Amino acid sequence: MIAAIRGTQDILPGVVERWQFVEATACRVFEQYGYAELRTPVIEREELFAKGTGETTDIVQKEMYAFTDKDGERITLRPEATPSLVRAFVEHSLEQAMAVPKIYTIGPMFRRERPQKGRYRQFHQLDVEVFGVQDPSVDGEVIDLAWTLVRELGITGVELAVNSVGCPACRPAFAAALVAALGEDVKTLCGDCQRRAVTNPLRIFDCKVPADQPVIDRLPHTIDFLCDACRAHFDAVRKYLDLFAVPYTLSHRLVRGLDYYTRTTFEILSGNIGAQSAVLGGGRYDGLVKKLGGPDRVGIGFAAGIERLVLALAEGLPLPDKHPDVFVAALGDPAREASLALLRDLRRAGLNAQIEYEGRSLKSQMKRADRLKAPVVFILGEDELARGEVTVRRMAASEQVSVPLSQAVEFAKANR
Ligand code: HAM
Repeated sequence: MIAAIRGTQDILPGVVERWQFVEATACRVFEQYGYAELRTPVIEREELFAKGTGETTDIVQKEMYAFTDKDGERITLRPEATPSLVRAFVEHSLEQAMAVPKIYTIGPMFRRERPQKGRYRQFHQLDVEVFGVQDPSVDGEVIDLAWTLVRELGITGVELAVNSVGCPACRPAFAAALVAALGEDVKTLCGDCQRRAVTNPLRIFDCKVPADQPVIDRLPHTIDFLCDACRAHFDAVRKYLDLFAVPYTLSHRLVRGLDYYTRTTFEILSGNIGAQSAVLGGGRYDGLVKKLGGPDRVGIGFAAGIERLVLALAEGLPLPDKHPDVFVAALGDPAREASLALLRDLRRAGLNAQIEYEGRSLKSQMKRADRLKAPVVFILGEDELARGEVTVRRMAASEQVSVPLSQAVEFAKANR
């Protein structure tokens, strides 16, 4: 037996309904906020993420499924959607093509992380991005959209955390202040943090090693080092969140694990899904479009993990109870042909009609109808055929009536 690859999952019937609910709700809410869907390939040039997601990130350093293609090109399975959407925005000049460049995408992403509950190697994101809007009201709107999505899914027990990580003008001073505050303590931190202190000190706030926390708790906060423009922007974002009545907490440790963020960052965390608690995360990335070869346009967006949203859904969610409208049972060969013709007519009329393929006894056909939860069974045998009728059994009431074959479709429609 060849098993599925570690960190990947089959989404089985019975669970997939929850996925369909999440995806349908997301499409509805995204479209309501003016976003249009865009689908990008699963494979991209490795360079797109090395430059976009960032060389110092764990994703690029250790987690990409990258390979050399037969023609020598370096290709990777996408680890996230944002650089792909930026590429598509630039490649198709969406700024001209769309009235407002607000786009969303849904699909699988790949990161070679250590699998655990809520963390997979193939996972799925719902991702939204807006390009070209500098005004902080759009930060407020994007965060409101994230909050609305979670609320529309009926997910409770969540918290929204917000921060500002500044811009290239104010970040160097903050990084220097971090290194200075660490001082000699840096030698007591884990290997990852010692490396971060050199390559990207902000990322120290991502550290989960318990022994490191007392030192990290004493470090300065980004929002105390923002330049005037970043401070004004962040104040306005907070004002808009209040205006949209979106409850949030300030979290100075929310620096996010990707290199492109500037100013606003945010996450929604669930208290009910285990250690991998971030159901979604995002922020502003004002230099990214230019860095990837496009015009100097700002951007902001977020991505939610579908696996984590599904984990966070309420248990008793009213999901559609899928079952056929009618089951057709046939007895004997002549009736079998007539029953297939009836099946065809029922389906052409838009009904969900099912049949027993192997032509077993009536008893086993009724058992099958019962397992499928068909409320009505049409029985066709030689007698029925001779009379031009079907015998209709209503499963719940265990009662039978006869209906003319010519009226069977109308009867099924009326009784579904
Ligand atoms: P991210 O925080 O890396 O951000 O991922 C966003 C969400 O994807 C996470 O909050 C989580 O729900 C889900 N996720 C990430 N990794 C895994 C995994 N291994 N298994 C299961 N779920 C996972 C981004 O990807 C950015 N592109 C978000 C963004 C869009 N920022 C601006 N625009």
